[in-house]
Amino acid sequence: MTDQLHPDIESVVLSKQDIQDIVDRLGRQISEDYEGKNPLIIAVLRGAFVFMADLVRAISIPCTVDFMAVSSYGSDVTSSGRVRILKDLDTDIEGRHVIIAEDILDSGLTLSYLIKLLEGRHPASLSICAFSIKDVSDKTPAVNAAYVGTHVPDAFVVGYGLDYAERYRNLPYVGVLKPEVYS
Ligand code: IMP
Repeated sequence: MTDQLHPDIESVVLSKQDIQDIVDRLGRQISEDYEGKNPLIIAVLRGAFVFMADLVRAISIPCTVDFMAVSSYGSDVTSSGRVRILKDLDTDIEGRHVIIAEDILDSGLTLSYLIKLLEGRHPASLSICAFSIKDVSDKTPAVNAAYVGTHVPDAFVVGYGLDYAERYRNLPYVGVLKPEVYS
């Protein structure tokens, strides 16, 4: 049943197989680059939890995981990307090699705020592994991702952890949501 297209999905952007290929490649790259470094992989809840679960299983070297939850400060987020921390890390990141696993990078404002915050805790290194980057012609994300899975079109996509009003996170593919669902 899970392979059947959900009726609210207009088109599939990334199939299960596409996703697996992307995650395997990212896992291999990280395993090579962080050999002997025991990286800490951080996911920002909730969207990145599915990607994180797959990514760590594609990483062949020892690594640890931790989670953060944030919420935007209303309209502030458009100008500053300032966020409120709802759940902080349990891990002391001083001296650690940290990789933030992100589901989709759009403006990058949320992440750029988080990076400033985490850099203040003096990790040995801090990088971003973005499963996808949204291609928006007149915008570049406010942060640079060292690892990029793929690019997705400038449309509202759901599935593989991405939601609309908390729905669709469990779809095993990434698809464009039909506009009539949210208009
Ligand atoms: P940014 O701060 O503009 O980069 O926003 C990134 C966050 O917005 C992602 O982590 C997602 O949670 C959410 N987001 C951005 N675009 C989409 C989308 O097309 N579908 C679902 N969530 C999205």
